[in-house]
Amino acid sequence: MLSGREIVLIISGGIAAYKSLDLIRRLKERGARVIPIMTAGAQEFVTPLAVGALSAEKVFTSLFDREAEHDVGHIRLARDHDLVLIAPATANLLAKMAHGIADDLATAVLLATDKPVLAAPAMNPKMWQDPATLRNVETLEERGIRFVGPASGEMAEKGEAGIGRMSEPLEIAAAASAVLKDVAVREGRLPLGGKHVLITSGPTHEPIDPVRYIANRSSGKQGHALAAAACDAGARVTLVSGPVDLPDPDNVEIVRVESASEMLSAVENRLPADIAIMAAAVADWRVASEGAQKIKKDGSGKPPTLELVENPDILATIGHHEILRPKLLIGFAAETQNLVDNARSKLERKNADWIIANDVSPETGIMGGDANTVRLVSRSGVEDWPEMDKYDVAREIIARAAAELNG
Ligand SMILES: Cc1cc2nc3c(=O)[nH]c(=O)nc-3n(C[C@H](O)[C@H](O)[C@H](O)COP(=O)(O)O)c2cc1C
Repeated sequence: MLSGREIVLIISGGIAAYKSLDLIRRLKERGARVIPIMTAGAQEFVTPLAVGALSAEKVFTSLFDREAEHDVGHIRLARDHDLVLIAPATANLLAKMAHGIADDLATAVLLATDKPVLAAPAMNPKMWQDPATLRNVETLEERGIRFVGPASGEMAEKGEAGIGRMSEPLEIAAAASAVLKDVAVREGRLPLGGKHVLITSGPTHEPIDPVRYIANRSSGKQGHALAAAACDAGARVTLVSGPVDLPDPDNVEIVRVESASEMLSAVENRLPADIAIMAAAVADWRVASEGAQKIKKDGSGKPPTLELVENPDILATIGHHEILRPKLLIGFAAETQNLVDNARSKLERKNADWIIANDVSPETGIMGGDANTVRLVSRSGVEDWPEMDKYDVAREIIARAAAELNG
């Protein structure tokens, strides 16, 4: 959601200004352009040189800048970009905003902007809880200014703790992304705006005893990429994930599960959904009776026998749901042989609309890798897709799904 977007970042004069340097990096990493404005106070904490070097942009510091103002630059700064982000937002800046004061570049831009504004306050807990600040925040919220944080924790001041720490840069980046998404959904610019997409991802772990389990090599990369792509397309996304070693996608509801049975109940509890994409590598079998204690060697030299029973079939259960079957149901088939035949039969047996089939033989490197080569199998035929990064595969699947849903 941040890729290609232009964010005016106002840095005001709080001790947390040093974190805004990392915030610039995080926003740029996600593809945003960051145009910095620094108050005089901010320049006491971090230098325009550092901010300019990290953002690779001119840093705006003065309202009465003859060069920038030959075409009323502060109004252009206020209007020409996608979002105004204030991080850190001092008590002073919030007070000025609440009262319409425009005595420097930052406050003049804030008064003149017609773009969404997101503030990440940072101050001493006493300043945050002062009735004047609380009242100012209330006033600003009523006017549609959004807030992220402040968080609770230790302060820079020795021995002080409480609510007032600036949110971490990654949280602020996620909040910025959420604001931009809300605006785009409201303006009807995203194909899955107002839709619910339910996705499963990762492996399942089937317990043998309290310390051992049966698992598979799924990394969750494809399922998580699908969740991020669906979110970027405007959907409300629920991601039911087995145990994975991946960061959570931003602005997605995550339900963490371990076993196939847990995954099935999590999925059923999250219906209805407009689109369901079952990308998890669900174990076909589980151990019939999980040992209550760790299974020990008994000295006989004979290994224990593990009796397996079949797990519930999540895709088939959802596919045959009488009332709550999603309008578009997509399954994945990870196979090592007879890819297309297996995918076709899965499509029928499980009453899915599409099967995304991939060859997960070890030599393909797909399981756990960053790239995927898939075939889209539907009732109207089989399409071979070229090898792509898993996020690009996800984006393509989501674009196709949105087109199908929107007719
Ligand atoms: C060392 C130091 C740390 C400060 N930290 C904060 C802070 O975290 N939050 C805050 O609201 N004000 C803080 N202040 C006070 C602001 O710098 C002061 O209110 C200033 O006028 C803010 O100006 P600005 O909002 O235009 O940037 C701090 C002041 C100093 C000297």
